[in-house]
Amino acid sequence: MLIAQLTDLHIAAGRRLAYRKVDTAGALEKAIDHVMALVPRPDVVLFTGDIGDLGTAEEYALVGEILAKLTIPYFMVPGNHDRRGPLRAAFPHATPVANGAGFVNYVVDDFPLRLIALDTLDEGRAGGILLPAQLDWLQRVLSDGTDRDCAIFMHHPPFRTGIAHMDAQNLGAGADELARIVAEHRDTIRAVFCGHIHRPIHTIWSGVPVMVGPSVAHQVALDLRADGPSAFVMEPPGLHLHVWDANAKSLTTHLSYIGRYDGPHPFFGPDGKLIV
Ligand SMILES: [Fe+2]
Ligand SMILES: [Fe+2]
Repeated sequence: MLIAQLTDLHIAAGRRLAYRKVDTAGALEKAIDHVMALVPRPDVVLFTGDIGDLGTAEEYALVGEILAKLTIPYFMVPGNHDRRGPLRAAFPHATPVANGAGFVNYVVDDFPLRLIALDTLDEGRAGGILLPAQLDWLQRVLSDGTDRDCAIFMHHPPFRTGIAHMDAQNLGAGADELARIVAEHRDTIRAVFCGHIHRPIHTIWSGVPVMVGPSVAHQVALDLRADGPSAFVMEPPGLHLHVWDANAKSLTTHLSYIGRYDGPHPFFGPDGKLIV
């Protein structure tokens, strides 16, 4: 089973440039072309939030136009730049609500790996939150007796990445309880897929791998200083390809760059001289 994870689209209405520089609509078009050209083709696409930039119906209409080319089943969770109402109105099939409390928490059981969507959006705030009702719902899903191998996908990472200005707005309230639940079910939770940081980042947290996907548009600068300022960079955009081998019970994550990078690529010998 092949899962493509696309995250942090930040689509603006009227194809407005993000930060007056980044053509996020064009970046999403390239990302979708990239996914559709992959061989083998992914079985499912997960969008891990920040689909829009302000969370308006106009933004999601543009996303819908671009996603018309995506003929692979896809699912979404909201990020801090989204709003549940307009997102769900535009993509009801991709944001089913299972727990009746209005959150975009749901389970997809159509594939060899069970997919569990967790909605960490705290509308109006950059940081993420999981309320007790959502954590109770997750506990019930994980304890339903099916014992299915699963992956959780959500926008805000639950761990500290070392990029301080982003860590200040990661998953806040509910993170400790989530850590407890995940540790309790670490034999069936194969991975947690996140977005929000706009960089590929990997760790082990609560006994399971957690992977943050790169943005399909712009990346956050790699700056590990405690007082590093908020900054974005135009490194090559990318997406994560997660390969689930049900027989081996193994999950492997690959970073797939979007676009062609033919070089020149300089190589340096042991003496530090350029090899041509
Ligand atoms: Fe984002
Ligand atoms: Fe975000």
